[in-house]
Amino acid sequence: MTKSLSGKNSYSQNEPLAARRIGLFDSGFGGLTVMQQIVKQLPHEELIYLGDTARLPYGNKSPATIIKYSIDNAVFLLEKRIKLLVVACNTASAHALAKLRQIFNIPLIGVIEPGAHQAVAVTRNQRIGVLGTKGTIQSGSFEAAIKQRLPQAEVFSAACPLLVHLVEEQLHDHPATRLIIRDYIKPLKAQGIDTLLLGCTHYPLLRDLIQDEIGPTVTLVDSASTCAAEVERLLKEEQLQRAAHNSPSHRFFVSDDPEKFALLGSGFLGRPISGVELAIY
Ligand code: DGL
Repeated sequence: MTKSLSGKNSYSQNEPLAARRIGLFDSGFGGLTVMQQIVKQLPHEELIYLGDTARLPYGNKSPATIIKYSIDNAVFLLEKRIKLLVVACNTASAHALAKLRQIFNIPLIGVIEPGAHQAVAVTRNQRIGVLGTKGTIQSGSFEAAIKQRLPQAEVFSAACPLLVHLVEEQLHDHPATRLIIRDYIKPLKAQGIDTLLLGCTHYPLLRDLIQDEIGPTVTLVDSASTCAAEVERLLKEEQLQRAAHNSPSHRFFVSDDPEKFALLGSGFLGRPISGVELAIY
């Protein structure tokens, strides 16, 4: 089955669209937690990942800057002729997804909607906590997406600006990280939440510590696996699934320091990363 992507800023070529790669971008490393789930759930697909490591973090930048960076990232990936774009960054999804949808005529998926979907599916008492970067929490995007699905839900959010840095310093299991998590989640714990949404790509790496601090009765959810399920659904709907493939290969681009990305990124992806290329854009 061949299709063409037509319309504004799409890249229609005489090649089967299904054979193209899925593109993902994040501010840096964190989107690899989303990539890990897509690779697991869709083993025949080939992916191309862009980490904007020169300009990370996005979490404390203004919406206008995040939109600008997101457009740059999308253009870079579209020039590589992808068939679907995943915004694998919560902050970029919160601020830029709507704008990207206006500009680019390509199937697009962010991580806010899948995360909200998952939180609503598991809550029993309809009291849901959300952790995220400053930008994500200030946008109110998770709260809106949760309430759209479950209007009677009560949503309690906390910005956790230090956690991204602690993960990137590989202090996953450090007493200081535990103390900071305890402090961030204290107000949510007091609200009797039964579900806690990890609304940032880095937080799945702190899952054990967060679970330990919030207690066993609270279910932790993140966007990654639901996002991968959504990618699968959309590929099916658009008839863009790649035929069985023996050894799919993935490409990695970063805007700064490919060596550091290869080293640190393997912890996020859960497998070694090699051949990281420098993205000039
Ligand atoms: N990827 C970002 C997010 O999910 C976290 C890192 C950053 O602040 O750039 O919000």
